[in-house]
Amino acid sequence: MIIAIDGPAASGKGTLARLIAEHLGYACLDTGLLYRAVARDVLARGQSLEDEEFAAQAARMIDTATLDDPELRSPGAGDAASVVAKFPAVRQALLALQRAFADQSPGAVLDGRDIGTVVCPDADIKIFVTADLAVRAQRRFEELRRRGDPVTLEAVTEILRLRDERDQSRADAPMRAASDADLLDTTEMDIEAAFDAAVGLIKRRIARLG
Ligand code: DC
Repeated sequence: MIIAIDGPAASGKGTLARLIAEHLGYACLDTGLLYRAVARDVLARGQSLEDEEFAAQAARMIDTATLDDPELRSPGAGDAASVVAKFPAVRQALLALQRAFADQSPGAVLDGRDIGTVVCPDADIKIFVTADLAVRAQRRFEELRRRGDPVTLEAVTEILRLRDERDQSRADAPMRAASDADLLDTTEMDIEAAFDAAVGLIKRRIARLG
């Protein structure tokens, strides 16, 4: 069983993916961490994020044991990830790893931007999680303030807007809902309500799969 969860930054897709995987006893992969790690490794070698060949090489050499690095969770790492993620050679280098992860028993949940469209187009269940930009920015702002980051809501909103634009407009595997995905708008939901709604969607899909 493969569950694909896609959506923009701060939509709640990562938390949802983790909760769904725990609920079902499935493995979970936050694929954004792969792109974040590639950007980290490029910068650590003193190279430019705009060097596609170097970034692709970093992607081919990625060490998945380093994905729990707390630095990868910073907003800067997310932005840097979005830059290297536009390169087809980087995306190609990360494809086999993601597909191998998806192909496990009893099931896997993967979250990202292109799981339902490119990585696992045959996923059994696809959910595209959205929320209004203002709500996503407020969530991210509160999360950063709790961590002691002196950001402003305006800055967080602008950073998310630019990241959405970059992820949606790249030529290769842009962020978009697969035509057969269920949409889950979490604008007016807290995480418990979003989880209940996602479980409802999954149950309906499973019933239809027979
Ligand atoms: O989900 P995230 O915020 O950790 O992702 C960071 C960036 O990585 C995101 O802005 C675009 C890129 N990404 C991607 O292109 N495809 C994915 N499947 C996951 C992330």
